[in-house]
Amino acid sequence: MKKVRKAVIPAAGLGTRFLPATKSMPKEMFTIIDTPTIQYIVEEAVKSGIEEICIITNSTKHIMENHFDYNFELETRLKERGDLEKYEEIRKIPKMCKIFYVRQLEPKGLGHAILCAKEFINNEPFAVLLGDDLMVSDTEPVLKQLINEYDKTKCSILGVQTVDKKDVYKYGIIDPKVQVDKDLVEIKGMDEKPKVEEAKSQLAVLGRYVLSPTIFKYLETQVAGKANEIQLTDAIMRMLSEEKVYAYDFKGTRYDIGDKFGYVKAIIDFALKNEELKDKTKDYINSLNDN
Ligand code: G1P
Repeated sequence: MKKVRKAVIPAAGLGTRFLPATKSMPKEMFTIIDTPTIQYIVEEAVKSGIEEICIITNSTKHIMENHFDYNFELETRLKERGDLEKYEEIRKIPKMCKIFYVRQLEPKGLGHAILCAKEFINNEPFAVLLGDDLMVSDTEPVLKQLINEYDKTKCSILGVQTVDKKDVYKYGIIDPKVQVDKDLVEIKGMDEKPKVEEAKSQLAVLGRYVLSPTIFKYLETQVAGKANEIQLTDAIMRMLSEEKVYAYDFKGTRYDIGDKFGYVKAIIDFALKNEELKDKTKDYINSLNDN
């Protein structure tokens, strides 16, 4: 059984929930204080043991490639000024991981974006980290938690958490089959963004997956579903006729950076954990309560 060493980061979405910001700025490059979201996601992948990443982009997203490249002029100037701490910080970004880029030529959905990485994956089990789902965990990185479950089950693992009933319409919602242990469920099916009255559970897939390469066979023949897009959820559902799929209730907090309030929450929480900013941020929040 092959080890999970490759990851796909789909980052070709149009970001319409965040216009006009996303007109020329990819939402994956939105900064949480001083670091772009996509850097946190690549760091999570690397800390989880991923060796090669394929980012799915489009023609408006090339600044992501610059971020993971050297910047000779900036590096030279930082060195000249003797700011070696910043120099080292900037130099280490391109060295984190081997990153490949594939352009999704048309916005045909998440399933189609992942299909664009078929040749890169080359028949290995692989991870998917959605480019606008930022994870914070006090224990192991969220993707590592999923890979640990993959190592035990040798089957595809979907990262899930329980969401409020009012939010099920935003997510892929699983139909549980058997509770294997406290945090692991074998799934019977899955629905993309169901109405609350049709949802089979409140367990939502939140942007992290470990998938068997069998998925490509189903993605290749997948017809458009919800929102007239080729949905990963529909292909996973069909793959169930051939292979087991599990959902793992991961430990950690997920921020939806493509959503305005998700973004605000991420910035506040990161500021409250940042040594330089936490006291000032707390004082500021308290001063708002006083008014
Ligand atoms: C995608 C998936 C959905 C999943 C969600 C998590 O939807 O299609 O199943 O629950 O990501 O963020 P999107 O938010 O890209 O519309």
